[in-house]
Amino acid sequence: MGDELTHIPVLPSEVIELLDPQPGQVYVDCTAGLGGHACMVAEHLGPEGTIVLNDMDQGNLDLAKASVASTLRPDDPGSARVHAIRGNFSELPRALGELGLQADMVLADLGFASTQVDDPERGLSFRFSGPLDMRLDPSMPITAEELVNTLPERELAQIIFRYGEDKSARRIASKLVAAREVEPITTTDRLAEIVRSAIPGPRGSINPATKTFQALRIAVNDELGSLDALLRSIGIALKKNRGGNPSWIAPGARVGIIAFHSLEDRPVKRAVGEWTSNDWGESITRKPIEATDAEIASNPRARSAKLRGIRASQ
Ligand SMILES: C[S@@+](CC[C@H](N)C(=O)[O-])C[C@H]1O[C@@H](n2cnc3c(N)ncnc32)[C@H](O)[C@@H]1O
Repeated sequence: MGDELTHIPVLPSEVIELLDPQPGQVYVDCTAGLGGHACMVAEHLGPEGTIVLNDMDQGNLDLAKASVASTLRPDDPGSARVHAIRGNFSELPRALGELGLQADMVLADLGFASTQVDDPERGLSFRFSGPLDMRLDPSMPITAEELVNTLPERELAQIIFRYGEDKSARRIASKLVAAREVEPITTTDRLAEIVRSAIPGPRGSINPATKTFQALRIAVNDELGSLDALLRSIGIALKKNRGGNPSWIAPGARVGIIAFHSLEDRPVKRAVGEWTSNDWGESITRKPIEATDAEIASNPRARSAKLRGIRASQ
């Protein structure tokens, strides 16, 4: 993804086909990002439609809101109503309840946006020199620097093993602990250098620090905990619908989730399986939808995207 102007959402036509937006409906974007998907959906909703944008990053939320506002005709006061909510998507069902809204479409496009990973100050990438921060929401209390410099070696190894799926986790944790005794680890460069020094042998095409960076980012942002909470509240809503009780998801609503690695896709796959086997909805992606070669060529981030979806029972 490039900057705001060149931002291309992943799986654009596939997302529209899955969400099947209709005039007057309510679209809930759990991860508004730069508003790419939201703008595409907005074009289908007409003046009576409603768009709820959610993001834990205020900067992205503002960008998404501005893009959606400029997609909808600014001279048309009747254009789809837009609500912007800053927060973790695990809190979104409650916020929707307060707005008195029921979603006809829900999308969660997990992970981070280009504005975040390409900002050296966020410390999300070893491609840039920067502070070891990694928070997607800069108001959150714990940074990667704190984790790396304070966690016991065993816990650091567990994080790198679980969230980075790195077999060298113990060796990396031991090097990190030895290094921080000399001097606190405060930058992306130093972290990457220490990880590299822990992994012997020839270098492949993938930077050895990739997995440790992923692991720390997941831990700092509790990404899997938030995803579990979202999946749980979708499940509860679908079950309520099935029992004839209103929930934050409308009967017949389409829900799409885009995962970028197996730690995200596994719980999504499990949840969709549970919802369909209980007959709370019907899977609308028999297999996960992946990007075409043409999309990957123009948007490399789409390479690992997997979209799964469900239609809530009526
Ligand atoms: C891949 S981007 C979304 C891109 C968006 N679909 C678009 O087309 O522009 C992911 C966004 O989700 C946000 N995010 C990640 N986890 C979140 C969470 N648990 N709650 C709220 N927002 C989250 C990030 O801040 C980021 O802006």
